[in-house]
Amino acid sequence: MAEHVKRDLVSIEDLSSAEILELFHHADEFRANLHAWSDLCRGTIMATLFFEPSTRTRLSFESAMLRLGGGVITAADGESTSRAKGESLADTVRVVGGSYADILVVRHPEDGAARVAARYASVPVINGGDGAHEHPTQTLCDLYTLWKEKGRLEGLEVVLCGDLRYSRTIHSFCYALARFGANIVTMPYPGFELPDYVLQRLRRDFGVSAATAAMGDLPGLAGSANSAAYLTAHKPHQLALFTKLGNVEVSHIDAIYMTRAQRERHEGQDTSDYPRLTRSTMGAAAAKDARVMHPLPRVDEIDYDLDDDPRSVYFRQAELGVPMRMALMAFVLGKIQLRAERPELLSVMPGDARSSGGGLRCRNERCITNSEGVRYLERDFRVRPGVTPPVLSCAYCEREIEAHFVGHVQSRILHRYNAAEVRRIKPENRVYFETEDQARAAGFAWSNG
Ligand code: NCD
Repeated sequence: MAEHVKRDLVSIEDLSSAEILELFHHADEFRANLHAWSDLCRGTIMATLFFEPSTRTRLSFESAMLRLGGGVITAADGESTSRAKGESLADTVRVVGGSYADILVVRHPEDGAARVAARYASVPVINGGDGAHEHPTQTLCDLYTLWKEKGRLEGLEVVLCGDLRYSRTIHSFCYALARFGANIVTMPYPGFELPDYVLQRLRRDFGVSAATAAMGDLPGLAGSANSAAYLTAHKPHQLALFTKLGNVEVSHIDAIYMTRAQRERHEGQDTSDYPRLTRSTMGAAAAKDARVMHPLPRVDEIDYDLDDDPRSVYFRQAELGVPMRMALMAFVLGKIQLRAERPELLSVMPGDARSSGGGLRCRNERCITNSEGVRYLERDFRVRPGVTPPVLSCAYCEREIEAHFVGHVQSRILHRYNAAEVRRIKPENRVYFETEDQARAAGFAWSNG
C-alpha cells in the first residue's frame, strides 16, 4: 500500500502546478451545483482556529465544509481561546487536531505559525494566513479567477500594486505566478516593496529576472514610473539577472491586483497618499482588458465607482472561494483523488538539507520562533542546495540567512564557508554561523587559535 502522507497546505509550494490545475476542474464541478455534495464529507469535522480577524476566509471555509456535508467547530478569535491564558499554538492544535476535528484551518498573526500547526497536529492543516508570510488558499482563489477570466496563466501580464511588503496574499501569489510563467509588474507604494527574501526566492527557485518597467500609461498608481519593476519568469533557472536592469514598456495588462495597506503590521506609518484605482486609471489603453483584482477587504484603494465595471472581479474572487475550498478540502481529506503528481518536496526535506543551524537565529522578528516558539521550538533551517556562501532558510517563516562560517559539531573547529575542510565535514555535522562572534560565543574556534 502506498504510504499515506498527510497533506498540509502551509505554502502554495505544497501543491504542484498540475495539482492546482486539476483542483480548478473539481472546483468547476462543485460550483456547477453547490447543493449536490452533501454526502461527500459527511461525518467529517473541520475546526477553524482564527487568531486574527477574518470574514471571507473563515466563512468561506465553513460554508465549503457545510456544503460538503461535514460539521464545523470554530474559534473565531484568540481572545476566546486559551491563547489568552498563554497556551501555545502547538498545544492548541495537538488537542483540537486530536479527537475534536479531522482538518484544521489556522490563521495567526505570526510568520511561520502555520508550519508549527502542521508539525504538531496529526490531521491536515490549511494555512488561512500566517502573519506577512503566506496565504495559499487566497492564491488558489486568485489563480482560479484569473484562469477562468483569461483561460490561461502562462504569459499573462499581472500588475501587483500597493503594500507588497506585508501582504501575505501577494507573496503566495507571486510564487505561483512565477511558477505558471506569468510576468509580474510590481508597483509598490514607496517603502512597501516586495521584501528581499521574496525577490531572492523568485530569482533562485523560479529563475525570475527583473527589469525596470515604464508604466507611463497608468498615472497615479505608483509613486513614479521608475518604481515599477518587471519580473519575468524563465525556465529553466536563470541566476543573477537582477544585476542587469533593462527597460520594459508595459503596453498590455491582463490583471491589476490591488492590496490594502496592512496597517496591523506597520502601525503608525503614513500611508496618506496610498495608490487608488479609479475610473481614470482604468481608462488607460494598457488596462483595456485588465481585470481588477483584490483579496478584500477593500479600504480606499479601489473606487466604489469601479464596482460595476465588467473588468472588476474582486467579488467574483470571493465567490469562487467556496467551490475552490470545497475542492481543496475534499482532496486533502482523501475524498477525491488527483491524477497529478504531488510536488517533489512537501514540507518534508531530505535529511542532508536540514540543519539545526547551530548558531543561527531567525532574523525575522515576527517569526514565531522568536516569540512563543522560543519556549518549545527547536531551531530548524533548510540549506538551500548549490548556493555559496551557504544560504539557510528558516523552516518556519522561510527568511534566509547567509552563513559565512561553518564549524564541526564535535571538534568545535571553525572554518570559513569556502575552506576546503568544510567539504570534508558531513552535512549532518556542520554547524552554521552568520558571524565569527556568534561562533565564538557558541564555543567554536579556529584550529590554530
Ligand atoms: C487578506 C488577508 O487576510 O491577508 N484577506 C483575505 O483573506 N481575503 C487580505 C487583507 O487582509 O488585506
